[in-house]
Amino acid sequence: MRGIILAGGSGTRLRPITAVSSKQLLPVYDKPMIYYPLSVLMLAGIREILVISSPEHLEAYQRLLGDGRRLGLDLEYAEQDRPRGLADALCVGREFVGDESLALILGDNIFYGHALISVLRTEIERLDGCTLFGYPVADPERYGVASVDDAGRITSLVEKPADPASNLAVTGLYFYDNEALDMAARLTPSARGELEITDLNNQFVEQGRARLVSLGRGNAWFDTGTHESLLDAALFVRVLAQRQGVRLACIEEAAYRMGFIDAEQLGVLGKESGSSSYGRYLRELAGV
Ligand code: G1P
Repeated sequence: MRGIILAGGSGTRLRPITAVSSKQLLPVYDKPMIYYPLSVLMLAGIREILVISSPEHLEAYQRLLGDGRRLGLDLEYAEQDRPRGLADALCVGREFVGDESLALILGDNIFYGHALISVLRTEIERLDGCTLFGYPVADPERYGVASVDDAGRITSLVEKPADPASNLAVTGLYFYDNEALDMAARLTPSARGELEITDLNNQFVEQGRARLVSLGRGNAWFDTGTHESLLDAALFVRVLAQRQGVRLACIEEAAYRMGFIDAEQLGVLGKESGSSSYGRYLRELAGV
């Protein structure tokens, strides 16, 4: 399976900030926002990842992450000249994905949960069509909203419904079989001029091949699309770090735990991070 991170992609609600910088380059507490979705793909065991962003911000991502080799990753970059919608990521990434399956994750989504790794790996194994991840929220009208039958099959999927049929928001992590690439290529833009991910997913719903995995209790999910949710996410990350010593989305640690790099390389990365607490954390982990 190959991974795509879409940093940008649809019109964002954080306009006052994004006018000067791409939102996903903002830090969430102690690290750039893109570390969070990147670490999720890594923990799912995905090493070949395409980062898609606007032409003016792509270079900043490249400077930040490089070719990924120091993390045992193979990172590539591609431009999306304007926000053409989330499903457009499958068009931009078509050649990169080739004949493999793919995981698409949005650059502003943050996931945390102790069982997340095993859930993701299980779902990659059993993927047939598309697998979406749902999370119960108080404000479903902000999101894609799903209804499911007892087997977890999605029976309906509506984008930002005025009158939501359930409280299950569809999160910004999507697993697809390769045929999704052809289906995305045939989509036509919606009224807001974007290729809608929900239109793509609804084709799988019609085929009875769209699964929803509910990330309920024991998991946290943030879409940092508003100033409030961005701050909430930062506070959550800080609480975990300060109270429990848990570092969320530490990509160096993820690379080490996944066996993408060895302790020696982790130590090198720790030294590069200098005297910061982040660097100290990495060096302790590496035992140097
Ligand atoms: C997008 C999707 C929506 C999904 C959300 C998750 O919305 O269109 O279905 O629930 O991401 O973050 P956007 O944040 O682009 O408005």
